[in-house]
Amino acid sequence: MTLSIALPKGRLGEKVYERFARAGYPCPEVLSESRKLIFENPDLSVRYFWAKPSDVPIYVERGAADIGVAGKDILLEYEPDVYELADLDTGKCRMCVAGPAGVYQDDKKTLRVATKFSCIARMHYAKKGRDIDIIHLNGSIEIAPIIGLSDVIVDIVETGSTLRENHLEILETIVPLSARLIANRASYFFRKEQVDQLVTKLAGKEG
Ligand code: PRP
Repeated sequence: MTLSIALPKGRLGEKVYERFARAGYPCPEVLSESRKLIFENPDLSVRYFWAKPSDVPIYVERGAADIGVAGKDILLEYEPDVYELADLDTGKCRMCVAGPAGVYQDDKKTLRVATKFSCIARMHYAKKGRDIDIIHLNGSIEIAPIIGLSDVIVDIVETGSTLRENHLEILETIVPLSARLIANRASYFFRKEQVDQLVTKLAGKEG
């Protein structure tokens, strides 16, 4: 039976696909410069498709994909009902609170937090008992504190250059992040051997 694998569209997905290929699951057309989204290697009974990164867990949770690769940020934010099989040790970054230096001084005021990751931000501040107002944005979060929409942001930091270039700094690190291999629960139950074999072959294939 064909194993369906959802990959996150973008640089991380391409890197991860190469790792699958090195592990013995190649499907060379995947990296071709076309608008095609689904690729199959019938000889190996494997099918790949490119999905928007935040949609990968949806395909996997509903069984449209048996396996997928998703950032820990997406898994923490949406808490999909899937198995997290392995840390792929790639796509490493951090979820951080960032803002202009000194913004934390007045902790009696409700803190305005701009973020794409509302649940993660809410959980983080609930633990601290801090009163916040979440401003949910869909991208370019760094703009918010600069133009006065928010006091701080909760966002992903990889190299730190977006923060630096916008005169913001890390105020707190919430959690380290990396790409995870996830599996649909039923697929894993019924095809455990096939999936475990893939996990074993992927282990040790760096990058
Ligand atoms: C992500 C994140 C930061 C940036 C961090 O944005 O939201 O803005 O990358 O990377 P850095 O620390 O290496 O500068 P992304 O490019 O995904 O776009 P977005 O603004 O739409 O979220």
